[in-house]
Amino acid sequence: MCGIIGIVGKAPVAERLVESLKRLEYRGYDSAGVAGVVGSGVERRRAKGKIKALEEVLTAEPLTATTGIGHTRWATHGAPNVANAHPHSAGRVTLVHNGIIENFAELKAELAAAGRTFESDTDTEVIAHLIDAELATGLAPIDAFKATLDRLTGAYALAVLIEGAENLVLGARRGSPLVVGEGQGEMFLGSDALAVGPFTNRVIYLDEGDYVALDHDGARIFDASGAAVTRPVRVVPTSAVMMEKGNYRHFMEKEIHDQPEGCQRTIAAYVDALTSRTAIPGDVDWAKLERIQIVACGTSYIAGVVGKYLIEQLADLPVDVEIASEFRYRQPALRPGALVVAMSQSGETADTLAALRYCKAKGMKSAVVVNATESTMAREVDVVWPIHCGPEIGVASTKAFTAQVSVLTAIAVAAAKARGTIDAAEEQRLVKVLLEAPRLIAEAIHLEGAIKEIAADVAKARDVLYLGRGPMSALALEGALKLKEISYIHAEGYAAGELKHGPIALVDDKTPIVILAPHDSWFEKSASNMSEVMARGGQVIFITDTEGVKHAPEGAKVVVTAPASDPLVSTLVMSAPIQLLAYHVAVIKGADVDQPRNLAKSVTVE
Ligand code: F6R
Repeated sequence: MCGIIGIVGKAPVAERLVESLKRLEYRGYDSAGVAGVVGSGVERRRAKGKIKALEEVLTAEPLTATTGIGHTRWATHGAPNVANAHPHSAGRVTLVHNGIIENFAELKAELAAAGRTFESDTDTEVIAHLIDAELATGLAPIDAFKATLDRLTGAYALAVLIEGAENLVLGARRGSPLVVGEGQGEMFLGSDALAVGPFTNRVIYLDEGDYVALDHDGARIFDASGAAVTRPVRVVPTSAVMMEKGNYRHFMEKEIHDQPEGCQRTIAAYVDALTSRTAIPGDVDWAKLERIQIVACGTSYIAGVVGKYLIEQLADLPVDVEIASEFRYRQPALRPGALVVAMSQSGETADTLAALRYCKAKGMKSAVVVNATESTMAREVDVVWPIHCGPEIGVASTKAFTAQVSVLTAIAVAAAKARGTIDAAEEQRLVKVLLEAPRLIAEAIHLEGAIKEIAADVAKARDVLYLGRGPMSALALEGALKLKEISYIHAEGYAAGELKHGPIALVDDKTPIVILAPHDSWFEKSASNMSEVMARGGQVIFITDTEGVKHAPEGAKVVVTAPASDPLVSTLVMSAPIQLLAYHVAVIKGADVDQPRNLAKSVTVE
């Protein structure tokens, strides 16, 4: 996981690799390393802990290479130690990786059966072996790289050196971002524009599935099918790099696309991918806990509602979720045996903070699921559960929402295991399901083209209704909230079972009705709500998955087919379509997407 830099340079690169890694420190890491082409070989320098430790290694053993790669690792597969630190080497190949290779265990078994031995516990090392094995068949580096990429399942950004291929750095991205930087006779590769920022302001954002060969002549870029492509060069003002929108028009659009990586980084902090076990930081005795009280506002509240469904169902642990502004003034009956969990992107929302303090004053243990780890809430609680999706700039919350849901999902699994409602095998299965979510979210984001077309119709509506059951009823609230806050179209989110108790009166042939129905235990019921709505002339936008589409009633105006997923992660997967719908409607309407009228990113007054 984490930061990547690659340089094809004219002068020794070690110092610049380290300089770039320092720029990436904000992403969090627990070891760091660099490698470079030296003569006919590749040399590595790695260290556990901070970059300072790597600098000490480099002082003792300088690296003279003019082409090299560097990495800051945040442990996912295997402990933070030197053996697991990147770069990893096998035969002629040395590489760094950001992401998770889901099928690494099968690939590792296959490589071990072929006589290959491994130095680390990482998923990354198998990629180096696979490329090396392809090179051994006589393939050229770029073809050996492509043949390997075709075998990987999961999300990744990679930077690769090959022995004997001087002045060459290969890169690829799927699910994790990667940028190319153009210098004067030098080329750069980075996990974000910040990584290459010290050396150039000419940046190419690689598209999903792209791979690239960098040498002194420039970048040769290929798409996922292997066709040579060109991608636009953008000139990025250096001071703006941190807040850079990349190829996106708005921060919100970028942040929707950031979600596979944001969730991946978050999930990696709450599970041990190597053992497929949960690993929730902080001292909470899940087995003895009597109750969880979630307090939050807006989208963070909705994330809490999704958490309630998962935690109660899996762990048989009662969870109350309440809007903080109500909770703080109504003198709720609280008991010290409960844990209060504040949910807040900013960690500063006045009502949530007040509700949290109220619970603390009643003697409750406290925790916060938060993005801003230096915020007031983070400083005041007993346990901080950070989301690791990076700063969220768009006022409408997107990637913080899915990262918050990721944390609560890991907590649901951990609490269930601790309380004996699931066994160790089920815990492992569910952790594997959770680790697959970033890839499925990336696939759901690919529905953007289809959603843009739907948005053109929705933009003409005066009212929109969102319906769902189970966790999808919470997502219906979120869909409606996103649409109204950025496009100013009136929208309501409802638990679909409530339809007959009121909202069905709204149904006419001008009101789009978005039904969220993955193929889960609620599917039949949601499908029957769809029929009821259509019988009254309603224009249904049916958002389902590849299983649900086989069983959906005929007659929806539009069917959107997201990838099928386990119910544990279906909220994560179905989030992108509703966020993209709100986004494209707002763009069509010419609204100020990132700064909607009357709204602030951090609501520090009640
Ligand atoms: C909606 C949105 C808001 C926030 C709410 C809470 O898109 O962003 O509803 O979720 O203001 O903010 P935090 O999470 O910072 O406490």
